[in-house]
This record gives sequence, C-alpha cells and structure tokens, in this order.
Amino acid sequence: MQIYKVGGAVRDRLLGRPVSDVDWLVVGATVEQMQAQGFRPVGADFPVFLHPHTGEEYALARTERKSGRGYGGFTFHASPDVTLEDDLIRRDLTINAMAEDEQGTLYDPYHGKRDLDQRLLRHVSPAFAEDPLRVLRVARFAARYAPLGFKVADETLALMRQIGESGELQALTAERSWKEIERALMESEPQVFIEVLRSCGALEHLMPELAQGADTLAALHQAAQRQQALPVRWACLLRGLEPAAIKALNQRFKAPRECQELAVLVGEFAERADQALAMAPANLLEMLQKFDVYRRPQRFEDFIAACEMAALGPGYPQGEYLRGAAEAARAVDVKPLVEQGLTGQALGEALKGERLKALEAYTAG
Ligand code: CTP
Repeated sequence: MQIYKVGGAVRDRLLGRPVSDVDWLVVGATVEQMQAQGFRPVGADFPVFLHPHTGEEYALARTERKSGRGYGGFTFHASPDVTLEDDLIRRDLTINAMAEDEQGTLYDPYHGKRDLDQRLLRHVSPAFAEDPLRVLRVARFAARYAPLGFKVADETLALMRQIGESGELQALTAERSWKEIERALMESEPQVFIEVLRSCGALEHLMPELAQGADTLAALHQAAQRQQALPVRWACLLRGLEPAAIKALNQRFKAPRECQELAVLVGEFAERADQALAMAPANLLEMLQKFDVYRRPQRFEDFIAACEMAALGPGYPQGEYLRGAAEAARAVDVKPLVEQGLTGQALGEALKGERLKALEAYTAG
C-alpha cells in the first residue's frame, strides 16, 4: 500500500500557511488490511480510519457515486484498485487535489500548483457537482484566500450557478450549511463569501432574504477587521432585514442561540441605538429591560459592537453613552426596596421606578 498526504495540508504548505490537520490517503489497501495494522474505523460505512498512535485520519482511496438527492445520497466505492488519480479527480478544487508521498514528492495530476500560482480556485472535474456543499466551500476558500489575491475561475462559477439552479442547495442540511457559513464568517474577508455566492446566483437559493436586501457587507468586513465574535458578525450581516427575514435565516440554518438572539435584537434596536443620545429615559429603560442588561451584560456589549461596526466611522459615541446608561440602571440597589417589605410584582415595579430615576439623572447629566 502507498500512503499520501492530501488536501489542505499539501495546499497550505505550498502557500506557506500554517497546517492545522493532516489528512492521509491510502492507495492499494483493503479495509481488512487497515484493521490488521491497528487502524480504527471512524464509521460503519465510511472508508476512513484513525491512526492507532497519532489519531490522524487515513482514508482509503475511493470513487464516489451519487445515488440520490441531498446529503446521504452517496455510495462509496473503495477498493485496492482505485488509483491516486481516481481519488483526486473527485475532489472539489485543483488546489485541494494534490498529494505528497512520504519522500515529499508532489503528485499533481490536475495542476493544482499552477492554479495556486495563478491564484485560481478551479474545480477539478464535473464530479464537483456530486456534493452541492462545495458551492459554499468554494465561497469560503475565496473569503479565506482573498488577501492572497485568489479568485474563483469563471468555469467554476458557471458550474456553481448550475448547481444553484438545480435546486440542490436547498437540499443541504442546516447543519452542514451552517458549518460552512460559520467558518466563512470567521475568515478575515467574510464579505467575499457573500459576494461570491451572489455572483454565481447561489445566494438567491441559500439566502434569498439577502439577495437584493440591504447592503451590510461593509459592516461585516469591519467586524472581521476588528476581530469581532461570531454572533456580532452574523448580526452585522442580517442588519437591516425585516424581522421575518431575520427569523427565517436564523431558523433555516439553525444558527446557535447566541447568534439568533443577537441578530433579532440588532434588527429591532439598532436604529434606536444610533439615536441613543437623543433618547428619552423611559425609552432607554425599555431597551435596557428588553436586553436584560442586569443579567446579560455581554449580550448588550455584543449589541453595541454590532451597531458600531455598521457605523463604519472612526467613533461611535452612542456606544459609550449606552454603556453608561446600562451602568446607571445596574447601579440601582434592590436591597432598600426589599427592606421596605416589597416583594413580587410590587418589587419589580419599584425597581423599575428607581432605574428610571437613575436614567433621568444620567441623561440630564
Ligand atoms: N473535499 C472535497 N469535497 C468536500 C470536502 C472535502 O473534495 N465537500 C476534499 C478536498 O480535497 C479537501 C479534503 O477533502 O482538501 C479535506 O477536506 P477538509 O478537511 O474539509 O478541508 P481542507 O481542504 O483540509 O480545508 P480546511 O483548511 O478548510 O480544513
């Protein structure tokens, strides 16, 4: 059997980027031979194994045949007669379809090195279409490697367009799609992910709410440059959409709760935050109550960050002002009210009254 390093590890080494995990490809072996050498199978019907000592992934060379619609509609053919070229041709991009043997010799039958040098994301073969998730992967790689000058090849964009039109993107599971979206949002140029999806028409199928909606990409870019957390980036992207559209996107991709919540709150309150300096104390209080700034201070911070990213200017004085207001409301002590014998709803009302007074003082000062 021959063992090759494949995929991202080869690509990133050639790009001079840090290699996080290494995938190995085994040619000329059977499942039984792998097990006899102590490799542990990862799943029942998937020809991938973990190395007994390093824990790295070793996959048997395989060809893949589409047997149905949607994810799960795959059958795998792995056998010792599947060659390196057979395996590599069914991978997504030429830059991901290179292999290196144990002596460090590069195997590059589909010219991945040339495309790396030309900064091109190009599909290897029509087999690209076997997995529609690759449309999102390509857009994600475009976002990741944009600072290096990478572009998607025209013929690959055309194929991505066809996949979108085939309806296959809607058949992807929420979990697989979200994983790509999340990784793309955390790249340094996440707006490129959306731009690429838009340019091949895929955005219309994946996120129609965003396809002709408000332009929020500058805010998203800013959020990445300022290294904001995932929920802030997601909220920046969805800002300006109607509440129903935000909800639909949240649910379609089963976004994590923190992302969902922040996107909804930004949708509802961002405009008011922009006007914070002119806000009446009662409206400020209503907003702070809605955010539950007393128990969820970080969520309010993330909200302010998302508003600040969209402001795009050098400063956002509203942010400091809102922080100050939250502090003033939070500083109200509940103890004297309890000592007066107040409980339940009466205590709640009294506390609100005291907070309002504190905000009146804050806004007056
Ligand atoms: N691959 C593919 N199609 C997919 C997923 C993976 O062709 N839908 C192939 C590519 O050759 C890829 C390799 O499997 O390089 C490993 O996949 P993965 O670990 O997901 O990605 P990496 O290329 O290692 O990239 P990343 O740095 O994003 O992990």
